[in-house]
Amino acid sequence: MSKICKKIVIYPGTFDPITNGHMDIIKRALKLFDTIIVAIGENPAKKALFSKEERLFLVKEAIKELPEHDRVEVEIFSGLLVDFAKKKSACAIIRGLRAVSDFEYEMQLALMNRKLSNSIDTIFLIPSLKWIFLSSSIIKEAAKLGGKIDDLVPTIVAKKLKERFNF
Ligand code: COA
Repeated sequence: MSKICKKIVIYPGTFDPITNGHMDIIKRALKLFDTIIVAIGENPAKKALFSKEERLFLVKEAIKELPEHDRVEVEIFSGLLVDFAKKKSACAIIRGLRAVSDFEYEMQLALMNRKLSNSIDTIFLIPSLKWIFLSSSIIKEAAKLGGKIDDLVPTIVAKKLKERFNF
């Protein structure tokens, strides 16, 4: 390969809000790459609970818990993910795979991104078994109904969800 890969990777998502499952993927990526850029985007199919700015704040606060947080950057992006990845000189996109049910959608996304830019690959990481059942939606649903979510999300997220849902 003629180009030097700087080992910067993009971890994109809606992060509405960030959960312990996402944190698990960031920790795993830190072992493999030099810099992780958590890229907060918008999925037009989803109506977010937190604004992009709130999600940025939550991710920034959450990663402060990590000993190597100086190697994690957090940014909001818009437009095509591959364009953002190129702008950041990233060598790959990281996505978490929780179950076989994630695979079809993730494969479609990865292949579309490859079609849009052949130079950026997608790498899948599997979170710890204890977070496999987590999703941002299931957290929001439980929090809305006053369920205990403290051990499933970073401390700041639990605090903000409680404020948002008044419990
Ligand atoms: N732990 C917990 N939850 C996890 C997880 C993990 N390790 N990995 C995935 N998830 C959950 C997320 O919480 C989310 O849950 P939700 O559906 O309840 O919100 C779900 O899995 C997957 O969503 P997310 O990771 O947020 O991705 P997405 O499918 O909403 O895509 C973008 C978001 C921003 C990456 C995508 O829309 C995008 O790339 N947009 C830019 C435009 C573009 O380039 N599109 C692609 C080509 S056209």
